[in-house]
Amino acid sequence: MSPKWTAFAVSLATVTALAVVLPLSQAQVPPVPGAEETPTHKIMVQVQAKNLAITKAVRTPIAFTKAGPQVATDATDMANLLKQAREQRGPSEVQKKTYEEWTNLMDVCIRETEAFSKFASANEQPAVKKQFNNVKGACTNCHNVFRIDSADDF
Ligand code: HEC
Repeated sequence: MSPKWTAFAVSLATVTALAVVLPLSQAQVPPVPGAEETPTHKIMVQVQAKNLAITKAVRTPIAFTKAGPQVATDATDMANLLKQAREQRGPSEVQKKTYEEWTNLMDVCIRETEAFSKFASANEQPAVKKQFNNVKGACTNCHNVFRIDSADDF
């Protein structure tokens, strides 16, 4: 082989070796903070399940007639999950905010959810649906501060 071809073969081998090595080393890079399964994330997944059930139940008068009795219970469960999330210090550490900012935003959401739970068992569908927007607003207010890397998709 001419020196030129040898050099080509060597560089080809290097490229091939790099192609094999790079994905492996990338896989070993730890995930960015906040992207892994945090305790808050796990709780929020359960919060979201309650949120979706309530959203569906309050959507139309017919849906509320069928699923309405469950709404107050789901809201109470959701408030209890939010209380668990309130205990988490991870989000304030990751976002370099105070734990107090975290609990303040969470307390508003817990209060709205508990108020909604009472409201839902004593009112008609249109009013209940409207009232639930206060809860969602409190979710979003916190996400805007503590979950800045992703937009609300509920
Ligand atoms: C006080 C702050 C706060 C409040 C209030 C809050 N969240 Fe969250 N939420 C977070 C943070 C922080 C994350 C990101 C957690 C992580 O990935 O580590 C999150 C993540 C989520 C996620 C994403 C889960 C996933 O699969 O990635 C959903 C959905 C969610 N929240 C729904 C809600 C709903 C619904 C409410 C209101 C009932 C709510 N959250 C209230 C802070 C909050």
